[in-house]
Amino acid sequence: MMINFTRTAIAAVALLAMSGCCGKCDKSGSSCTAPAGGTCADTVIETIMTRRSVRAYLPEAVDRESMQRIVECGINAPSGMNSQPWAVRIVDSKEYIDGLTELFVASRPEAAADPSFRNMFRNAPTVVFIASPDDGRGEFDCGLLAENMMLAAWSMGIGSCCLGSPVGFMLSAPEAAPYVERLNLPDGYRLLCAIGFGYPDEKPEAKERDRSKVQFVE
Ligand SMILES: Cc1cc2nc3c(=O)[nH]c(=O)nc-3n(C[C@H](O)[C@H](O)[C@H](O)COP(=O)(O)O)c2cc1C
Repeated sequence: MMINFTRTAIAAVALLAMSGCCGKCDKSGSSCTAPAGGTCADTVIETIMTRRSVRAYLPEAVDRESMQRIVECGINAPSGMNSQPWAVRIVDSKEYIDGLTELFVASRPEAAADPSFRNMFRNAPTVVFIASPDDGRGEFDCGLLAENMMLAAWSMGIGSCCLGSPVGFMLSAPEAAPYVERLNLPDGYRLLCAIGFGYPDEKPEAKERDRSKVQFVE
């Protein structure tokens, strides 16, 4: 009886060692970030459920090591036939962000009327631009890439906001063209969206979700 128990215990420990900290990942116990008594799945769900769009940041850009990790998580998103139909550009140059914002404000002065306005990327000091093939292929894949980055960032204490409107300006205003040019996108690629990143200076509340949009089908 005792021998059986010991065997079972050893097997359980070995299984845990083989399969990782929570039985669902291959992390070792020491690198596990799961909450006490929880699993890595809990941490993922907590990250998803607590992420909010951040629009107020500390002034400093996100350190490049963290950004490297974030984009690495981005490009590990799934893509159709692993086609990876994206081009990712990270901008943490204040000169770039402020220069473009100056043009934006010149054409839409009302945008800067809010006293909290710092720049056209909802005040983010680091911006990631995502481009996809201009025939529309890849937009879904880029969405997955974007969400991977935002969730990875949030799990590291870094806020983000997905941004469509600044890209609208960049693609339509001729004076913004030199800034688009500087992104050095591959031929046949078109800017799809921007994501602002930074160290949060606010804690936004969750917005209501409409659960009637989801149904089980019998
Ligand atoms: C495709 C897309 C475009 C967005 N564009 C903007 C934008 O231009 N400006 C902005 O402030 N937020 C933008 N957002 C953020 C949404 O407003 C935000 O995700 C939504 O209100 C839900 O809030 P939450 O992210 O805090 O849960 C965008 C989000 C997505 C997915």
